[in-house]
Amino acid sequence: MKKNRFFLVFLRLAAATATLFLVLSIISCQKSRNSTLSSRPDFASSSISAAVLWEHINQGDQFKRWPAWPDYEGLRPGQSPHGRFHRIYISQPLADALPVATNVAPPGSIIIKENYDPDRKVAGYTIMAKVAGYNPDAGDWFWAAYGPDGAVMAEGKPEMCISCHAASASDFVLLQRLDFGGGIGQ
Ligand code: HEC
Repeated sequence: MKKNRFFLVFLRLAAATATLFLVLSIISCQKSRNSTLSSRPDFASSSISAAVLWEHINQGDQFKRWPAWPDYEGLRPGQSPHGRFHRIYISQPLADALPVATNVAPPGSIIIKENYDPDRKVAGYTIMAKVAGYNPDAGDWFWAAYGPDGAVMAEGKPEMCISCHAASASDFVLLQRLDFGGGIGQ
């Protein structure tokens, strides 16, 4: 009898430990899913480049499956200098964070603007990627522009991109404030 009771206690303890492990591993899985991008060594401020970013969004975490900017799906009319129409894709870390009360996009945020010509053919890509420590003077954004096939047209901290986007009231993002406090285009 005594042995039996001991065995039951042992079983309960084992079950409780197993449940705890299961819960802990689920939590850590979700955490690592959210932080994979910002902790990738090739997204470090010292090694980010247009080529690394292009490979990441095409061969790795494929951007065509990324979320759209909330309530801004599909082809939208664009403003100068970006082309007649565009489609916006955002990385999962940014999608998870929106709306951002502080108006500062978290590391791992990537905003891809697929630019289209008047015939609705892809004319190129302009991208902002938040890389911690990359450019503290201008929001730590890495900027890149590509032709439709990935040919690099500009990358890094182009004065041209930064000076125009500096008009934003929300971390250099022009489409909409990150806290959703201003409508699209404000
Ligand atoms: C003359 C101003 C101007 C310049 C220069 C400019 N942009 Fe933009 N950008 C805009 C505007 C306006 C939008 C809002 C969307 C639209 O209307 O096309 C925008 C939107 C974007 C977006 C979508 C996120 C957001 O901020 O709304 C990205 C990404 C982007 N631009 C990247 C770039 C890159 C990379 C460069 C440099 C190669 C660049 N831009 C140069 C004006 C500019």
